[in-house]
Amino acid sequence: MANPSPVPQPRVRPATIMAIASGKGGVGKTWLSVTLACAWGRAGRRALVVDCDLGLANIDVQLGVRPVHDLHAALRGWTDFDAAITPVLGGAGRGFDLVAGHSGSGALQTFKPSDADAISDAVRKLAPRYDTIVLDLAAGIDPGVIRFAAKADSVVIVTTEEPTALTDAYAFAKLLKREGVTAPPHVVVNMAENRIKGRRVFEQLAAACEQYLQYRPRLAGIVCRDSRVPDAIRAQTPLPVRHPQSLAYDDVVRVAETLSSGAR
Ligand SMILES: Nc1ncnc2c1ncn2[C@@H]1O[C@H](COP(=O)(O)OP(=O)(O)OP(=O)(O)O)[C@@H](O)[C@H]1O
Ligand SMILES: [Mg+2]
Repeated sequence: MANPSPVPQPRVRPATIMAIASGKGGVGKTWLSVTLACAWGRAGRRALVVDCDLGLANIDVQLGVRPVHDLHAALRGWTDFDAAITPVLGGAGRGFDLVAGHSGSGALQTFKPSDADAISDAVRKLAPRYDTIVLDLAAGIDPGVIRFAAKADSVVIVTTEEPTALTDAYAFAKLLKREGVTAPPHVVVNMAENRIKGRRVFEQLAAACEQYLQYRPRLAGIVCRDSRVPDAIRAQTPLPVRHPQSLAYDDVVRVAETLSSGAR
């Protein structure tokens, strides 16, 4: 008789729940969430990505996976959270696990803060099974989005070099502090022309935070603009599978290391 499969043991330390936020849309939150999870999976870390953008959920589209159940169904009580987990690239520990937002078509309304609370509580119950849980948030500064970020263990604010992205990143940081989060967020500058320019953008944001919010955000890293990123998205294939040797993936691996060494 075959041995029964081992019962998963609780991990020594529950996962860090990390919210990926931005303010401005289209700065690369979803792509970064997925690519960080790939990098952690390849390093043997167990990662779960939760698509918290119920309005325009699209991680499953970026990845070309077809989840059976999703966060929307779990939130409405039509299925439980476990059933909404879809393994990607072999699942957590090799690839990663995913809870898709809304796998059907059509946009839903944005989250109410009470939805964010319910989902955050359900996600927290999964923490003993993972090393890192990534919440891919919607763009904007709606109360529901801010609440998600405030309930996470740490927040990563993604910006680009564009002044509008930088202004919105600062607005997000300000609202987060108003919500009672005093720990400085991490910052990723994505689609940077080069590291020097990316660093300069971070320093601009850091200066505004130091002056008006009385803290210095932590630089998680600079990710350069790389034409292989849209190419991989068009092919609905994660970047490290389609282009294992790419500038942007090297950058994300560095960000993953920085975040996992000082995540909380
Ligand atoms: N490092 C990069 N180099 C080149 N292009 C990139 C990079 N990062 C992201 N992109 C491009 O930016 C686009 C938007 O990315 P993504 O959907 O992840 O943004 P988002 O912040 O999640 O958007 P939304 O706010 O709508 O949820 C992608 O389709 C991709 O083509
Ligand atoms: Mg997105």
